Amino acid sequence: MTDDSILVLGGTGTTGSRVVSRLKALGAAVRVPSRSGEPRFDWTDRTTWRPALDGVAAVYVVPFDGQRLTRPLVALATEVGVERVVLLSGRGVDVPGYANENSGAGPTHIDGEHAVRELATDWTILRPSWFAQNFSEGVFRDAVLAGELRLPAGDGAASFVDAEDIAAVAVAALTEPGHAGQTYELSGPRALTIAEAAAEISRATGHGIRYVPLVPEEFTAELVADGWSTTDAEDFADAVAPIRRGMDSHISDGVRRSLGREPRDFTEFVDSAAAAGAWRG
Ligand SMILES: NC(=O)c1ccc[n+]([C@@H]2O[C@H](COP(=O)([O-])OP(=O)(O)OC[C@H]3O[C@@H](n4cnc5c(N)ncnc54)[C@H](OP(=O)(O)O)[C@@H]3O)[C@@H](O)[C@H]2O)c1
Repeated sequence: MTDDSILVLGGTGTTGSRVVSRLKALGAAVRVPSRSGEPRFDWTDRTTWRPALDGVAAVYVVPFDGQRLTRPLVALATEVGVERVVLLSGRGVDVPGYANENSGAGPTHIDGEHAVRELATDWTILRPSWFAQNFSEGVFRDAVLAGELRLPAGDGAASFVDAEDIAAVAVAALTEPGHAGQTYELSGPRALTIAEAAAEISRATGHGIRYVPLVPEEFTAELVADGWSTTDAEDFADAVAPIRRGMDSHISDGVRRSLGREPRDFTEFVDSAAAAGAWRG
């Protein structure tokens, strides 16, 4: 028996926490398991999967990058009667030469998308570009606070998407009709180079932040010197490579298609993040 509650995996993360807030604001019954809380859900402990999935009508899946666990999770979800799956994937999974198919999140997203299409009753796939929130709460935040974004992005640009828009699309897909079978490519309304993004954050915070372009080998060497594993450092460099190659600057129409409005601009993200104190050390 399913009720109308919605399970959010990754509910403490960048997109999942926003999905949870928006669902609660709508008055939806939300189940937010975590590795340590109750109900417990741990991707690496399959005994926790069924109790988390039992009885829910829909699930938002933030996958476990680096492994192919979306497929068995979606198979189990369908077996226990979950009617709707909304999968967070990534831009470029179907674009030859975009991602390194053998490293990082690529194989997770490719296999996850296939699994959802093959196994889920109703599904919607979200393919976001780089999150704007990487600068305020994700992988670039420490560099922003240090005043130097040292990345192998050349002078390439990315059409950063606001995680608020990703969450809004996820919630629409979880709660409304009309999104089943859709793959939404999500970006912001314009592309910015890393230097331009740094300048926007400098303006809003009053702190000088500069972009220092590195070649990939310098970048991975710096990360390894900081204690990263070589594999993780190379995965990060691979993830940035599409920006450098000009493959991340296009604008996608998924926010407009799913929500009937334009996506939030990077300036709006920066101003609201600065006002919320995101870059106070
Ligand atoms: N960042 C980008 O620019 C970007 C762009 C496109 C696609 N993506 C994709 O977006 C996804 C990340 O989404 P996000 O940023 O919303 O998430 P996130 O902020 O990276 O958070 C990850 C979530 O997964 C949970 N988690 C980690 N390990 C777990 C485990 N073993 N079992 C259960 N839960 C676990 C974390 O919980 P805890 O609180 O317990 O750690 C957290 O809630 C990735 O698949 C990535 O490839 C990212």
